[in-house]
Amino acid sequence: MKDLQNNAITVLNNNWKDKFSIPCAKLYPFQWFWDSGLIAIGFAHFDMPKAEKEIETLLDAQWSNGFIPHIIFHTETDTYFPGPDFHRSDLHPQSSEKYKSTGMTQPPVTGFVLEDLYRISKDRDATLKFIESVIDKVYKNHEYFYNQRDPQDEGLVYIYHNWESGTDNSPIWDDIWDTMNPPEYTFERRDTTHVDAAQRPSKREYDHYLHIIEIAKQNNYNDQKIAELSPFLVQDPLFNAVLLKSNQSLIDLYRIIGNKNNNDKIHQLQKWQDKGTKAFNNKLYDEELGVYVHYDLRNEKLLKHISSSSFAPLFANLPSEARAKKMVDIMMEKFGNPDQYLCASFDPTSDRFNPKKYWRGPVWVNLNWMLYYGLKQYGFYDIAKRMKQDTIEIIDNNGFYEYFDSRKQEHKNGNAGYGGHNFSWSAALFIDLLNE
Ligand code: GLC
Repeated sequence: MKDLQNNAITVLNNNWKDKFSIPCAKLYPFQWFWDSGLIAIGFAHFDMPKAEKEIETLLDAQWSNGFIPHIIFHTETDTYFPGPDFHRSDLHPQSSEKYKSTGMTQPPVTGFVLEDLYRISKDRDATLKFIESVIDKVYKNHEYFYNQRDPQDEGLVYIYHNWESGTDNSPIWDDIWDTMNPPEYTFERRDTTHVDAAQRPSKREYDHYLHIIEIAKQNNYNDQKIAELSPFLVQDPLFNAVLLKSNQSLIDLYRIIGNKNNNDKIHQLQKWQDKGTKAFNNKLYDEELGVYVHYDLRNEKLLKHISSSSFAPLFANLPSEARAKKMVDIMMEKFGNPDQYLCASFDPTSDRFNPKKYWRGPVWVNLNWMLYYGLKQYGFYDIAKRMKQDTIEIIDNNGFYEYFDSRKQEHKNGNAGYGGHNFSWSAALFIDLLNE
């Protein structure tokens, strides 16, 4: 394991670009929001200055309305599509003048990441000083979400694009694509020059992705207009669980900082937290399936599919003990067969399951990491242990890939790792799992 840990450190150091990290060479050559946060957790174990710089750079790209973009284009490169000239973040009047970016966001991990840095730090006073210097920016990001992404004032925020979910081509979005009929765009993809097309989304799926962005651009990325017009408008259980988890971390950290000037912020965070938790449990839980699901706000209906996102609420401590028990039973029944590694990204018993294709089935280290902490928090120690061991084993079998086949038999030859290789968050969270 020592060697593997050293390899993980090498992956992170190689993907470090002076003030931020790329998720992996070639396929993802810029800074991504939630990657960046999760990568900082890995660095915190062996190089805290890099962890801090990673977060500082991310927050430096924040817009003046509090928004943090999903990709920050630090460099010019034509190996990525769609790049800055397609996204045109400058259309939004409050976008960053310093950095080109996309006009969409990603799961807001920054709050809980700051708390993880504090947990991991060997010099907590110094780390707390760093946290004090950036925490208000994260607060402002949450304020953005609650003020701009919750049109019905429910305590739940929407995403307007599948790329905002982080689970980019989940079969859940098939339900939304069925409600759309975008034009056929002409464009040159770059992802399939780096990765086998069988492991990536189809051309027709990309038409949908681009069409939603075109609509947002026609409206200069105005949040109200997007809420009115976007064909994709979803309350995602993973995204909202991450936001609530981060709310709680901000509350805890402001308390540790202990400055009276922060009391109003703590009070406001608590209000979002109480309202959000209630709404989350009322609206996103499906009694019939026994898990949390996505809500399609545009077409006003639950999208009744079980994915790894369905279990993410465990990480944020949202379900009651009874619900948690039921969720874990379902996880073990559908995802936990002995011939499967935990935890497939989509229901292995569904006919939409594809164990090789991106978010349509493969195991992802970042979700496993969240589920591990969630299971432990609820006292499911044996299953948590398996989640951790499975995660370590898939990496040990194949290397630090972006995603992995969930079927154990595919791992025999050591080529069950898919997508990008030497992938940063797989390395970062592996280090955290080994050392927690
Ligand atoms: C893929 C993933 C997304 C991630 C990005 C960069 O698009 O779906 O979650 O942030 O790669 O690693």
